[in-house]
Amino acid sequence: SKGFADFCVRNLQQHAFGRREIEIAEQEMPGIMALRKRASDDKPLKNAKIVGCTHVNAQTAVLIETLAALGASVRWAACNIYSTQNEVAAALAESGFSVFAWRGETEEDFWWCIDKCVNAENWQPNMILDDGGDATHLMLKKYPAMFKLIKGIVEESVTGVHRLYQLSKSGKLTVPAMNVHDSVIKTKFDNFYSCKESIIDSLKRSTDIMFSGKQVALCGYGEVGKGCSQALKALGCIVYVTEIDPICALQASTDGFRVVKLNEVIRNVDIVITTTGNKSVVTREHMEKMKNGCIVCNMGHSNTEIDVKDLRTPDLTWEKVRSQVDHIIFPDGKRIVLLAEGRLVNLSCSSVPSFCASITSATQALALIELYNAQPGRYKCDVYLLSRKMDEYVAILHLPTFDAHLTELSDEQAKYMGLSKTGPFKPNYYRY
Ligand code: NAI
Repeated sequence: SKGFADFCVRNLQQHAFGRREIEIAEQEMPGIMALRKRASDDKPLKNAKIVGCTHVNAQTAVLIETLAALGASVRWAACNIYSTQNEVAAALAESGFSVFAWRGETEEDFWWCIDKCVNAENWQPNMILDDGGDATHLMLKKYPAMFKLIKGIVEESVTGVHRLYQLSKSGKLTVPAMNVHDSVIKTKFDNFYSCKESIIDSLKRSTDIMFSGKQVALCGYGEVGKGCSQALKALGCIVYVTEIDPICALQASTDGFRVVKLNEVIRNVDIVITTTGNKSVVTREHMEKMKNGCIVCNMGHSNTEIDVKDLRTPDLTWEKVRSQVDHIIFPDGKRIVLLAEGRLVNLSCSSVPSFCASITSATQALALIELYNAQPGRYKCDVYLLSRKMDEYVAILHLPTFDAHLTELSDEQAKYMGLSKTGPFKPNYYRY
């Protein structure tokens, strides 16, 4: 290693391959690279000491190296035991970053890695960048004195955000936190486009299925469901949607999808996809009714949406046919095809667009900069959303890619609309 950094990765020899992966990601991450260029003189994260716990992949490496260019030191662990790109972790370690992550960590390794990022010699972290809330949780429980000195937490996932709101409610949140997950710029782009593009990729790579004419049951018509349905429809699938929310059901109907109860179509569909963020959306009872060869997968919340545990009974046989593809064989010989054991199929079976990661990373970096540089008292010990102005700034960073030319308000128009010519351009309640 170039520096004196401590680290733990699978195989440092793979660093050159990992560096290439990072360079490829940089090409498709124009916004975060622009931020790196714009802010590396100012060093807005000078002396920031960040504990990072996110997926350790090429896109995250681009974020990590940006944070470093803006003046931060970081220690980084994985938020998921399967998602680490070992060669990328090697490249980061080789470049002098303290990274603790490898693909296929045990539960014990997982917590050891996070602990290594929190608790090290001559290291008092002052910021946390979390995806799932595990680093926050560990520091709060195991190192409460250290936690008190944190200036801000930036949280990316729905689960982590939920945990933060709970902490805040019970009065245990002693630092300001930024909910990046629900910022407009994240949900409207990451959730929608990354799922729109990766659902097809995941199904294709794992099953080689042809989409034309296939019948699909899509559970949930939020951002993820809307993205998936568009892609499937475009390839000629017949898509049925299930919803609990009348507004989303009406959106699905007017977008041209039949809104049904899962039971009404379950015997006929070729593919079932969950995108609800809920639990037990596809049950054993549903799976009993599926036809031979039906593909079942989850794009929503961790592994709760499909009742996979109810398939682990003695009367059913599991046959692993490919990595991330299991056939579940019923007593009558019927097989259903379960992808990624019900975990997020796109994270397990495909890659997600780097461009979406650029938007999310730029949002995370700006949230860190904001909390780190905020005047004392600006943020209380609560959970905040990114300001509209910062959402707009993330978009501005990405517009040059498309050679998009924004129209400027004239003085007269700005006055007429009651807006500043430099934004924000919409009120907080505007929904895009
Ligand atoms: P959302 O809240 O916009 O959409 C979820 C929809 O499911 C809602 O409209 C809700 O009414 C509906 N729903 C809830 N329970 C249902 C049920 N039992 N049956 C039918 N519909 C039901 O959320 P969004 O942004 O679409 O995200 C959904 C999930 O996907 C979340 O858990 C999120 O964390 C996850 N996600 C996954 C990504 C991936 O890369 N695979 C990317 C982004 C988010």
